[in-house]
Amino acid sequence: MLDFITQKKHDESRQGEAFAPEQAGVQQFSKRFYIESYGCQMNFADSEVVASILQEGGFGATRNYEEADLILINTCSIREKAEQTVRKRLTDLRKVKQNRPGALIGVLGCMAERLKSKFLEEEKLVDIVVGPDAYRTLPSLITEAEGGQKAVNVLLSREETYADIAPVRLGGDGVSAFVSIMRGCNNMCSFCVVPFTRGRERSRDAISIVNECQVLFDEGYKEVTLLGQNVDSYYWVDESTDTIVNFAQLLEKVALISPLLRVRFSTSHPKDITDEVLHTMAKYENICKYIHLPVQSGSTRVLQLMNRTYTREWYIAKVDRIRAIMPDCGISSDIIAGFCTETEEEHQETMSLMEYSKYDLSYMFFYSERPGTLAARRYEDDIPEDVKKRRLDEIVHLQNKLSHESNVRDLGKTFKVLIEGDSKKSGNDWKGRNSQNKMLVFPKGDHKVNKGDYVMVKVTDCTKATLLGEIV
Ligand code: SAH
Ligand code: SF4
Ligand code: F3S
Repeated sequence: MLDFITQKKHDESRQGEAFAPEQAGVQQFSKRFYIESYGCQMNFADSEVVASILQEGGFGATRNYEEADLILINTCSIREKAEQTVRKRLTDLRKVKQNRPGALIGVLGCMAERLKSKFLEEEKLVDIVVGPDAYRTLPSLITEAEGGQKAVNVLLSREETYADIAPVRLGGDGVSAFVSIMRGCNNMCSFCVVPFTRGRERSRDAISIVNECQVLFDEGYKEVTLLGQNVDSYYWVDESTDTIVNFAQLLEKVALISPLLRVRFSTSHPKDITDEVLHTMAKYENICKYIHLPVQSGSTRVLQLMNRTYTREWYIAKVDRIRAIMPDCGISSDIIAGFCTETEEEHQETMSLMEYSKYDLSYMFFYSERPGTLAARRYEDDIPEDVKKRRLDEIVHLQNKLSHESNVRDLGKTFKVLIEGDSKKSGNDWKGRNSQNKMLVFPKGDHKVNKGDYVMVKVTDCTKATLLGEIV
């Protein structure tokens, strides 16, 4: 997402990256697919489901789109810029079609769902358009497209969770994996396109989630991130025993797989996160002490217009509760600058709530009106672009200060770190995260440790986004 300003999200550093598993075994397949993903972690997880469906259908993955028979882009609609990025990319991919007329181009994900067959009118070289709930029909859509027809399936489902599909892990580090626990969203935040592109909320079978995490652990993975737009509303009924599994119980089940398997999750909604979840986090060392708790705005009036269904005071009480139950918990946020009718005072309220919450990290955006949303229909997008950008700049500036202060508070502390691999800058350094989701970089030295191991690291220094330290 290009309008994302300072820090890169775990997944945002991967925007548009192409993935194929190391052991893709391209030779055994007669045809090859190439997939590129944009947007949130859910989209990256979905691409792994798509890869599994395609491999069943006889396609092997490739990292080189020039040799692909099928080029897929898994798209995001969250802000206008996200869609512009995809359109630009489609223009590039068009050239491939000129060189390889037989190659098919498919658009998956949220933009496919939002634009439906309009996509085919707007982008003539697209052959296949598939929404997030229709990936099982990809093989037959491909056959249709190979026959020269344009193929579209954008039906949303109330049941589909792809629970039985074992995702093919694409381009990961072999240490950390995403596991989708639910799909869709019922919240109807007025600015948000997700309920329209992803449909109704539904929770995935808990048994299949725990199985998937167990398999990952058996394969050597050390960290799973449970994904949903609003994980706290996870709710699944085990009909064989007539018992309910809520999110806290699901977390516990996954945490019990092994103390060596770290458990993370995203995203929590301030209105739904419960004390039961917080106590479960506190009880298990391997449930990471980190909560992404998007506030969006610090003004109760704006929150009401956003249909977030909590107030500034409610949010503050949640932050207090987290700090009371887990004093060492990291908290991050999403913030929207310049929502419809936001006043200067209300913008200041967002800043003061950021100060209060002492966010370690925030993902910050200016408001981008999305067609069809409640806000687009009800409110005028009346904050001039220069004002939106100035407010966003102030928010980013403040967050940089808060992130730095948070890092300075960690100087001298020792953390348990899961090694994810070589640091970006040097093969002589490891990188890895602590429980609070902060990235640490430290020299390998003579220590006999490897990717996927846990080490204790003492923080000696910090940069804006990273803690620097040494193994103790
Ligand atoms: N389910 C998550 C958010 C998913 S979208 C939650 O409820 O918190 C990720 C973030 O994108 C949102 O938290 C919001 O900050 C931002 N966002 C969503 N729609 C937007 C829009 N129309 N304009 C600007 N930012 C938006
Ligand atoms: Fe969008 Fe709100 Fe649902 Fe998050 S909770 S996906 S912001 S509607
Ligand atoms: Fe984007 Fe869809 Fe995710 S709109 S943020 S890819 S749910």
